[in-house]
Amino acid sequence: MTKLAAEHVFKIFGRRPKEGVRRLQEGADRDRLREDGTTAAVIDASFTVQEGEIFVIMGLSGSGKSTLLRMLNGLLEPTSGRVLFDGQDLTALSAKALRDMRSRKISMVFQHFALFPHRSVLENAAYGLEVQGVPRAEREKRAAEALDLVGLDGWGPHWPDELSGGMQQRVGLARALATDADLLLMDESFSALDPLIRRDMQDQLLDLQQRLRKTIVFITHDLNEAMRLGDRIAVMRDGRIVQIGAAADILSHPADDYVAGFVQDVDRSRVLTAASIMERPRVIVSTDDQPDAVVRALRTDKASAAFVVSPAPALRLVGTVTEAQAAAAADGEGTVGELMRAATVTAQPDAPLADLLAPASRSDLPLPVVDGDGRLAGVVPQLRLLAALGDRPTPADRADRSDGSDTAGRADQSIREEAASA
Ligand SMILES: Nc1ncnc2c1ncn2[C@@H]1O[C@H](COP(=O)(O)OP(=O)(O)O)[C@@H](O)[C@H]1O
Ligand SMILES: [Mg+2]
Repeated sequence: MTKLAAEHVFKIFGRRPKEGVRRLQEGADRDRLREDGTTAAVIDASFTVQEGEIFVIMGLSGSGKSTLLRMLNGLLEPTSGRVLFDGQDLTALSAKALRDMRSRKISMVFQHFALFPHRSVLENAAYGLEVQGVPRAEREKRAAEALDLVGLDGWGPHWPDELSGGMQQRVGLARALATDADLLLMDESFSALDPLIRRDMQDQLLDLQQRLRKTIVFITHDLNEAMRLGDRIAVMRDGRIVQIGAAADILSHPADDYVAGFVQDVDRSRVLTAASIMERPRVIVSTDDQPDAVVRALRTDKASAAFVVSPAPALRLVGTVTEAQAAAAADGEGTVGELMRAATVTAQPDAPLADLLAPASRSDLPLPVVDGDGRLAGVVPQLRLLAALGDRPTPADRADRSDGSDTAGRADQSIREEAASA
């Protein structure tokens, strides 16, 4: 479900903004407009944000992030283009309808937002509800729940100046959560915090998001923060969105040299996860299959081993069977369940690649990735892991050029060494 959509949105500041749009559309560049005092803050931005997603807008200072965010909640009107919230064109709303929507459905959390010094923490958290006209008893109840959510239970009666900077920022988050808005807009909300507290807040936000499933647009100039938080990331440069994608896409396939330069120092082994590089297992068999059927399947798919799952509907990963094991048992009576080797080494989908080296080196088979229910989500072949960690062509690319067998041997060697030294 699309929650929010921007369609060819422009924001030009200056004397003749509409003319600025026309000149940009005709190919004039941003610097050219700048010469006569026109600032093209946002140029032709289009994207959608899905319900329940954390959509990060990342870019250096001055790239147009805050201007874009202000158009998403109708605080600024686009010079050209449309913003749709729940399918509703914001520019078509009356001023009153827009205010109403902003106070009920959208919450903003800023980098430096004001806590009222002479109101208690609880009253501060309840502020958005007060603006909505929610009666005192109810707003205090909801504000207290929101304070619980952000880990400030018990702090309601205190004064803001009794709280640390990080705790104050949590009050801002609680204020936004208390209103029950579906859409949270966060503009550099954690940028003023020192690094450890900032990391805490990121964890807290991810944890809250697991439970609340809000739609969040999060702005940051910090690439690592973007990669940690964003389901998808829009990279902005000089007013334009130059790439939109998941962290893994952007790392693996930067759209241009600018983005490539931006992401080159990111620690891939921490950002990329098993889920982002896993492949579909070639052969999956069930515990009650016959060994000869497994041999046939392995030969057809040119795979060295099959992953064994429990019978449907459970489909839990239980073991592996190599072609040699299956062939040796092919004339007998037994089932796959009796001859397989139990799958003891697995990885979770959200495991960072850094944590996969050691388990991947313990077997010659691809490392199975297993979800919370024990189901086989995918597999990570060792070559793929190495390719993702280094900046080399993926095994698929390489397969087009050579048979890769020699490379496979060397990779196998180096993966064991890396794991051993870890
Ligand atoms: N109200 C305004 N009037 C004129 N120029 C503005 C205004 N707001 C922002 N700008 C300019 O638009 C550009 C983008 O600003 P902004 O959206 O604040 O970027 P960011 O949030 O990425 O730092 C900057 O060049 C800024 O100076
Ligand atoms: Mg800004």
